[in-house]
Amino acid sequence: MDSITFDAGYTDGDVDTNFTTMRTLNEIADERFSRRQTLMGGLTASATAFLGTSLLTACEGDEVIGPAQALVNAGDDATISAGRLVTIAPAVSNGGTFTVTQVAGPAVTLTGTGATRSFFAPGVAANTTLTFRVIANNQSDDVNITVTPAQLGFTSIAKNLNDVVTVPAGHTVTVLTRLGDPILPGAGAYANNGTDTNFAARIGDHGDALYYYGLSAAGVRDDFSSIRGLIVQNHENLNVQYLHPNGPTTVGGARPAAEAIKEIEAHGVSVTEVQDTGNRNWVVVSNSALNRRITPNTPVVFNGPVRGTAFLQTVAAPDGTTGTGTINNCANGYAEWGTNLTCEENWAGYFRRDNAGAGTDNANRTARELTALRRYGVTSSTGNYSWSSASTTDPVFRRWDARAGTGAATTDYRNEPNKFGWVVEIDPFNPSAPPRKRTALGRFAHEGAWVSNLVEGQRLAVYMGDDSRREYLYKFVSTAAWTEADRNRTDRLAVGDKYLDSGILYVARFNADGTGTWLPLVFGQVPTRPAVGSDPAYTFESQADILVNTRLAADAVGATPMDRPEWTAVNPANGEIYLTLTNNNAAGRPINDTNAANPRSYIEPVGTGTSAGNPNGHIIRLRETGNLPTATTFNWDIYLFGADSIDAGTNVNLSGLTAENDFSSPDGLWFARPQNPSGVGRPLLWIQTDDNALTDRTNNQMLAALPGRVGDGGARTITNTNGTTATQATFIGAAATSATLRRFLVGPRECEITGVDTTPDGRTLFVGIQHPGENATDPNAPTSNWPASQAGPAAGVRPRSAVIAVTRTDGGIVGL
Ligand code: FEO
Ligand code: CA
Ligand code: CA
Repeated sequence: MDSITFDAGYTDGDVDTNFTTMRTLNEIADERFSRRQTLMGGLTASATAFLGTSLLTACEGDEVIGPAQALVNAGDDATISAGRLVTIAPAVSNGGTFTVTQVAGPAVTLTGTGATRSFFAPGVAANTTLTFRVIANNQSDDVNITVTPAQLGFTSIAKNLNDVVTVPAGHTVTVLTRLGDPILPGAGAYANNGTDTNFAARIGDHGDALYYYGLSAAGVRDDFSSIRGLIVQNHENLNVQYLHPNGPTTVGGARPAAEAIKEIEAHGVSVTEVQDTGNRNWVVVSNSALNRRITPNTPVVFNGPVRGTAFLQTVAAPDGTTGTGTINNCANGYAEWGTNLTCEENWAGYFRRDNAGAGTDNANRTARELTALRRYGVTSSTGNYSWSSASTTDPVFRRWDARAGTGAATTDYRNEPNKFGWVVEIDPFNPSAPPRKRTALGRFAHEGAWVSNLVEGQRLAVYMGDDSRREYLYKFVSTAAWTEADRNRTDRLAVGDKYLDSGILYVARFNADGTGTWLPLVFGQVPTRPAVGSDPAYTFESQADILVNTRLAADAVGATPMDRPEWTAVNPANGEIYLTLTNNNAAGRPINDTNAANPRSYIEPVGTGTSAGNPNGHIIRLRETGNLPTATTFNWDIYLFGADSIDAGTNVNLSGLTAENDFSSPDGLWFARPQNPSGVGRPLLWIQTDDNALTDRTNNQMLAALPGRVGDGGARTITNTNGTTATQATFIGAAATSATLRRFLVGPRECEITGVDTTPDGRTLFVGIQHPGENATDPNAPTSNWPASQAGPAAGVRPRSAVIAVTRTDGGIVGL
């Protein structure tokens, strides 16, 4: 065996240099994930090379068939971590042909026809040995490959304040869709100087959550295609200063309609086809028939218990069954029947109410309505961007004026705010299907909606954060039990009707002992919400009332107020639920009002100032009792605490972060797909930040993590210092290490990193870069020039939110 070399150096990409017939890793990997055979299925993996270089004799003890003289050698046994590429290059005398068959271990698919056979090491939770038998010249020889659980496969990058996307060495960044790119007929090339129009045919602004949906060569749904697909992306909000030549204007106190329509249409959701033209060179298919824009003006329908109720009646929809568009779409969810769950977050600010003092709206509202409007923050005197000022008659603008008149609700738009704050299901493969708003999942500032791991015969759960200070974590449990027969139906929204229109909505209470309780929000079980401040007591009148006014119901049952619940993610290997709690301020988390699940209140130095409360945020995780999505109790611990590793003491840097993995304000959160080894066994977790407390040291960032599980740390009592001192007991997961948490990406100036997915094979990572240069007040003096700056200095060029594709130059699975 001594003359066989083993090269574990998958990262350097030059594995073909010592064997003239050896193919490049890219070629091997491409074959493995061939266009016809994007297989995947839980047992695939990534990269390292096992290279034979000369003819050898069989090892002692190897099985020998035929003549005693050894004429085949399979190679040395080897150990490799999940997800890396293994290449078997047997030494065969006389240049003979050989066969390789797997005789032990989880089945993998071998590729290659020449001198080698290759496979990606499968995802595993514990060391697992795979045995392969090489037969040639009437002899056989076995080789054992021991696969270890996944390891991070890149070097952590440094924090930085550069105006580029930075990734580790050995990776490539390609900019895909950008704000303004034309994707439908009627829009020309984007001038990016404020003169562009028709954003209903362009990529919207503030790209947020995204998801990749595979397409077959025939252009139909193919969940295993890694070379052609649709990217569905939310467009949450605007860098409005860059959308007009010199920023937004008013004329006589009114917004010009031409400006307002641009701003409205730059919101919503985009569906854009992308294709790999070879070796993961991704391009946007700007003329695809599947491209779509969903805007705040797109017809939608309401489903679930609130459909057809008085809550949804307006002059435009007197029967309360339909609506117009979606807005402030933040995070999302993926339904395994092939749809997208886009979530409406900060919709409340878009409506005009004139509620200050004895305004006209207050005078025409009931006390119950006013309680609800205050609880949701529908309190603006103009609405974001003052769209309703553009016209008192055109419903495109008029509808953003939610003031109640003296007539019936069907004569105005007083109920228009009730039409937002929902989870909205989209069928990306059917551009003509109206989105469906799923009212059974409740109405709040929906950040995201992530579905539990599906099990045949078991009801499913959807985990959802309400992103505002001191809001709650929710889950919805379906009435219908999952059946695999629904996975590949073509009437995808009808499948959504089955699972998402009927069920029980719960809200979480986190107990001090590390347990938790899911409190049902069911009419008849929810008590009256007591009077709060100027709001009188609120007694619920129906399940629709509870679903429209979910926050009031959650208050009433005693849910735990959290430090801004953002994304949820479900570990595909063990079902544990992760929730980012991005941060809280001093008023939202004072030192005398911490709790075990939100345990920190401290003062953080930021630049020349400070930020108090829980400015760096944390990530909590839950294990349902019995690992059942239907459980009404759970256990929890805090997986990670954000911290500045330079400033933070041991009572703040509770996860032991260092320069290579410190972060602040976690927001996006996503486990790798179980279709490839990075989502199997020991799944990879991607963490994205939307931060304002470590931005003195770095732009926003994305980290890769290999989490353990609930309970892998222990109980701890911390001492908070925020004016005074106080202690708080909590439960903290195992500390982060270099092996379990590394910084993978840093974004350009003033961006947030949000939106992440990969192709099914895990070899292309898609990431959203949102609002670079957001702080500029003069659009002609932009504070970032990204993405133009990715290629070099681009002074003066306006920044654009964009989606990037990140690949490894050696063709392997990103992250491992
Ligand atoms: Fe739109 Fe809570 O982030
Ligand atoms: Ca600091
Ligand atoms: Ca977010």
